[in-house]
Amino acid sequence: MIAIGSDHAGYDLKVEVMAHLDEKGVKYHDFGCYDGEPNDYPVVARDVCEKVVKGEFKFAILICGTGIGISMAANKVNGIRAAVCSDYFTAKYTRLHNDANVLCMGGRVIGAGVASEIVDIFLNTEFEGGRHQRRVSLIMDIEKE
Ligand code: RB5
Repeated sequence: MIAIGSDHAGYDLKVEVMAHLDEKGVKYHDFGCYDGEPNDYPVVARDVCEKVVKGEFKFAILICGTGIGISMAANKVNGIRAAVCSDYFTAKYTRLHNDANVLCMGGRVIGAGVASEIVDIFLNTEFEGGRHQRRVSLIMDIEKE
């Protein structure tokens, strides 16, 4: 089970990503928004990310217009490593090297085909650990200070 959320600018892409998840048999909980009415992306980012750090979900997908604002908000929540991805390479390596737990995308940046591939890569790539664990731990140390 993964968590998913968006603002109004990410709503249409989120609907397409959810259809893709349905096709793949991946279960998800949609934390809104539920239509294209303007709303504030930090609110859904915080709601979803708090559930991820509580352990209710291993991964989350967050979508706004660019993917940037919602990733900035997500990364303010202790325990979150959110990455904005618009291509397959960064989707793969943010899992391999950064152990990213939140995938952010821009509904005004990429289309449903690319987004769906990115989602598949992100959800199916394991963290490599090793030297990357030390670096991820150093990142997480920053929020303890
Ligand atoms: C909303 O207009 C837009 O600013 C938002 O979706 C996002 O792109 C912010 O980073």
